[in-house]
Amino acid sequence: MPMKLQRRYKHFHRYRDVVQTLGKHGFDFLFKQIGLTEFLRGRKFTPEEELEDSTAKRLRLAIEELGTTFIKVGQLLSTRPDLIPKEWTVELSKLQDEVPPFSFMDVRKQIETELGHTLEDLFSSFEAEPLAAASIGQVHRAVLHGGEEVVVKVQRPDIEEIIKTDLEILHDLARLLEKHTDWATMYNLRDQVMEFEDILTNEVNYLNEGQNLDIFRRNFKNDKRVYLPEVYWDYTTKKVLTMEYVKAVKLTDSERLDKMDVDTGQVVTTLCEVVFKQIFVDGVFHGDPHPGNVMVFPDGRIVLMDFGIVGVIDDELKEKFGDMLIAQVSWNTEAILRSFLSLGLAPPDINRRELRHDIERMQHKYYGMPLSKIKLGEAMKEFLEIAFDYKIKLPTEFTLLAKAMIILEGIISRLAPQLSLMEIAEPFGKDLTRRRLTFDYLKKTISKNLQEYGEILGSLPRQLSDLMNIMEHGQFKATLEHKDLREFLNNLNHMINRLAFSIVLASLIVGLSLIVQGIEHSILWRIPLAEIGFIVAGAMGFWLLISIIRSGRF
Ligand SMILES: Nc1ncnc2c1ncn2[C@@H]1O[C@H](COP(=O)(O)OP(=O)(O)O)[C@@H](O)[C@H]1O
Ligand SMILES: [Mg+2]
Repeated sequence: MPMKLQRRYKHFHRYRDVVQTLGKHGFDFLFKQIGLTEFLRGRKFTPEEELEDSTAKRLRLAIEELGTTFIKVGQLLSTRPDLIPKEWTVELSKLQDEVPPFSFMDVRKQIETELGHTLEDLFSSFEAEPLAAASIGQVHRAVLHGGEEVVVKVQRPDIEEIIKTDLEILHDLARLLEKHTDWATMYNLRDQVMEFEDILTNEVNYLNEGQNLDIFRRNFKNDKRVYLPEVYWDYTTKKVLTMEYVKAVKLTDSERLDKMDVDTGQVVTTLCEVVFKQIFVDGVFHGDPHPGNVMVFPDGRIVLMDFGIVGVIDDELKEKFGDMLIAQVSWNTEAILRSFLSLGLAPPDINRRELRHDIERMQHKYYGMPLSKIKLGEAMKEFLEIAFDYKIKLPTEFTLLAKAMIILEGIISRLAPQLSLMEIAEPFGKDLTRRRLTFDYLKKTISKNLQEYGEILGSLPRQLSDLMNIMEHGQFKATLEHKDLREFLNNLNHMINRLAFSIVLASLIVGLSLIVQGIEHSILWRIPLAEIGFIVAGAMGFWLLISIIRSGRF
């Protein structure tokens, strides 16, 4: 029997479940398309047209029925507007990861098998009732024989096996779909499944989470604003993670938060700053900083938990983001387009003209908006949506960054609506710029970027000649001039705003990238453009004055 068939029969029962559950919710046409009818035999499904719910809702219902793996994949998809339509992301974000806890007997068994000692040998006390239960594992309080208070995260029995089986089935389905349908090939479905497989495999390996925790502990060793629990490696394996118990109040616990009388605005600011430090300075960031994973001490220090998913910004991505940054700063749509395309994987027949048009439309929306009004997460999400429309595949890290921004903005709007994530981000962008302005770094990148600089400089004369035009008109009619001047100043304002926006968005996006940014912003554009702007405005005012005098209408 060929291997693929073997696999299908190895997981016969689960495979049949998957196919029939999807069939029940109106997706049986898929299996007919790919010739996988053996699991449908003898079953009659209501035709899709007769089902009342939308496709997205039916998909969510099927996913809920199919359990952990599918729920996890569905949750990942809900943060990927670059992969699925917007309505689907909305529907899939309703997927809940809440499940009843598993029995203490299983907890004991799991710990004893993993650590090779009895529970009593390992702990002087162990709370049978979990603090929290999720689909992969649950968390119990315990005390070591040395008296250290700990929490033990214990993986559900069989969950690794279940996830492995489901992923194999998903791989097989993706392969068949790619073989039989154009859309699956277009979306590189198999690569996508592989990517989700990586994420889930990391999540079910607690060694990975423990290592992440150690990395963040090291990165924040001297930082008084944040606390990270210590991992007890002697009590940790792939399926059991033991760490220091931290007594603090969860950000979701508004009642106790109120009683504690901490400055919520300050706490939220700290949280955002801490995440930006991870992005801009460390290059490793918490992928899921939602309020359930954050605690607060009475003195305002925060505690981060749950490091199953972290984003890493590597050098290659930095480079690509860097190109994008240049493009953003120069406000050169063609260059943005190019960097957009190099950042992601675009289909060869992409309609560049329309894509450029859409990018311009997005730019216009933010043009002239005050920094504090710009929603960073939303802006990044829009970027992802454009990517979806044009079937451009963006790096997962980028989408993780967008997700983190959306989560932080959610926390701001709930707990401290007076704050703006964009404003909190700005100094990080500037700081980065400063730090990247070292001679070596400049030397390395300057030659590489000469071409792009040329483009920026190239557009300068045109802008100047536009100004000249305005001024010429001014000579004819002084009243009109006033308006033009105002318009010009307005434009200047807009220009500064959109540049500020670009700087922060792009550098954030990048996370790092920067030199380029350093050069672009500080030397080329930042000082000069603003100053040139003032000089030109001054000159115009003068010119205007002269023309008004000349026109004799003063
Ligand atoms: N070090 C800790 N100290 C105190 N409570 C903790 C600690 N780690 C986890 N918890 C509690 O357990 C819950 C679940 O832990 P978490 O690591 O977020 O797991 P999950 O991946 O299931 O969300 C947390 O929300 C928190 O209430
Ligand atoms: Mg959690």
